[in-house]
Amino acid sequence: MENRIKELVDIILYHNERYYNQNDPEITDYEYDMLYKELVALENANPELILPNSPTHAVGARPVSWGLKHSVPMLSLENSYNRGDIAHFISKTMNTGISYNVEPKMDGAAVSLTYSGGVLLLALTRGDGITGEDITANMRRVKTVPRKIDFKGELIVRGEVFMPKSAFERLNTERASASLPLFANPRNAASGSLKLIDSDLFEKRSLEMMVYTVNTVTGSAAHAEDMALCKRLGFNINPLNKLCLGLDEVYDHIDAIEKVRFTLPYQIDGAVIKVNEYKRREELGSTGKFPRWAVAYKYAAEQASTVLRDVTFQVGRTGVVTPVAELEPVELSGTTISRATLHNEDEIRRLGVMVGDTVFIEKGGEIIPKVVKAVMERRPAYARPIVFPEKCPECGGALQKPADEVRFRCANNACPARIKGAIKQFVSRNAMDIDGFGDALIDALTDEGRLKSPADIYTLRASELAERKKLGEKSAAKLIAAIEKSLAQPFSRTLFSLGIPQVGVSLARVLAAEFGNIGTLMSVSRERLMSVNDVGEKTADMIIAAFHDPDLIELIEKLRKAGVNFKQARPALQVQTPITGKSFLITGTLTRPRAEVEEEIRSKGGIVATSVSKTLDYLIAGEKAGSKLAKAQNLGIKVISEGEYKTLA
Ligand code: IVH
Repeated sequence: MENRIKELVDIILYHNERYYNQNDPEITDYEYDMLYKELVALENANPELILPNSPTHAVGARPVSWGLKHSVPMLSLENSYNRGDIAHFISKTMNTGISYNVEPKMDGAAVSLTYSGGVLLLALTRGDGITGEDITANMRRVKTVPRKIDFKGELIVRGEVFMPKSAFERLNTERASASLPLFANPRNAASGSLKLIDSDLFEKRSLEMMVYTVNTVTGSAAHAEDMALCKRLGFNINPLNKLCLGLDEVYDHIDAIEKVRFTLPYQIDGAVIKVNEYKRREELGSTGKFPRWAVAYKYAAEQASTVLRDVTFQVGRTGVVTPVAELEPVELSGTTISRATLHNEDEIRRLGVMVGDTVFIEKGGEIIPKVVKAVMERRPAYARPIVFPEKCPECGGALQKPADEVRFRCANNACPARIKGAIKQFVSRNAMDIDGFGDALIDALTDEGRLKSPADIYTLRASELAERKKLGEKSAAKLIAAIEKSLAQPFSRTLFSLGIPQVGVSLARVLAAEFGNIGTLMSVSRERLMSVNDVGEKTADMIIAAFHDPDLIELIEKLRKAGVNFKQARPALQVQTPITGKSFLITGTLTRPRAEVEEEIRSKGGIVATSVSKTLDYLIAGEKAGSKLAKAQNLGIKVISEGEYKTLA
């Protein structure tokens, strides 16, 4: 129980960071809510086990840079997924003369606007609900945000800033042609854009705002009155907002919004039901995190139905065999989908799906779509069961299914699919970062038997590469140079490159800093491993098992002989350096690669910030420093040159 609580806290904090700070969620809101609800239930049943850092006790994730305090905390909404929850909400809040506002739940980012004497003074992001980032300059550029209003005294309004679907598509098309990473959805695009420092660039993102609450006293007795006031003042109010009397009207309007959901020019993911009368809201109060007078109702994730033509089996780097649904191509949230994951054999059994079936697919947090349902009523006579292979589809080796796992694995360490996967991970950007080593070349060299493990990369010669049809002398020389350069990668990267289960980029960093070299790490006890903050029982066991695998031991030996670095350059001992605990941000071009300087800062206990804020200690300005430099100077932050940084380091 205690372990599960800790695990849930860690998982949720991780996903908070991805969602709020990186704008790059890995799981769907639904999956997140289920984890969250599980944690709340466990904490309610065992209040003595509530951890001090539990996300149930904070509104959001901490913003990357600290900004200004909200005069009234920005709360979040409790989510519900079924009619029963709505009925329960209404029965708890209903009283004589009470009505409800039912409105679309826009999928963007919450922003608070403060006007004083009729002028827009301050715009803040939600941040952690207590403190937000100052985005006033950008919000002044949003067309649907009036810069002046006919209102004396202070007025705080809040609402959702969102990117219309058309602007989102335009932005991603542009980014694709510039080889920039795409935004997963309009919500991420909106919250990512809010933090842009260049307001001209921000304006091009075409964000809009719809106001959904007033947070200062205006003399209105109810929300609907305040919304009417806002409309008169020039704010954009959602025309689908409706005042409803009683449960039936509430249900009807929730359904009406859902019906038009996909015809709207912006993305919504649910409806919000709010008590209209302020007096009743006051009586109900809030839990500190959610108001008791409002609830969100989430619509089901977008689904599409199509026909399952076939199932193929893919072998990954760790040997895991994943069944892949080969589908009749179908449109889903704007993209054509022809493949989806079926996860594992248990999932296939649970769904009862057969080849030939009509299936429902759903996008899981905009990552890989998954098959969520088979429509039994439409099963054709020729439907055939999905047969899991008995042997690895790539190498014909035996498949194993450990007792505590649901997935089959190819146990053959020499399986070409596994080797290719391992090499691709090894050379990837977050690992050894060997530029110019593309998938096609890796596939070809592995198929020819030239690469049998990542260590073989270091035996490649320019002459043999130059002979290849698609490479030529210049690229071959470049690739060899990139391979050589990778020898000097810091230990944390080498460690991540080994592909040890559970050891991702950040854990590799932690382990490298804690143990300093591979020898120490390989011989460390389970208890010692578990004393590291981010390592739980399961992770410790997997790391220890990996270091007992003769193939991994051999790989490490070969890599070491090739000259790969397995030592922390300067161990991040608790030695205090002028960098320890200080935050740095780099702007402009330095004489060394930016990533290298950032690694150095981290290895010395410093923090690499992602934007200029008041709490930034140093801005390292290289050549052609731009708007970050101006902003730092404005905020009075210490700006240093690369040379000055060197003397510090
Ligand atoms: S009312 C105290 N109304 O949903 C509650 N929120 O999950 C104030 N949202 O942070 C929120 N559309 O960003 C409200 N019509 C609407 C909304 C809405 C979208 C967002 C908002 C909030 C989040 C809560």
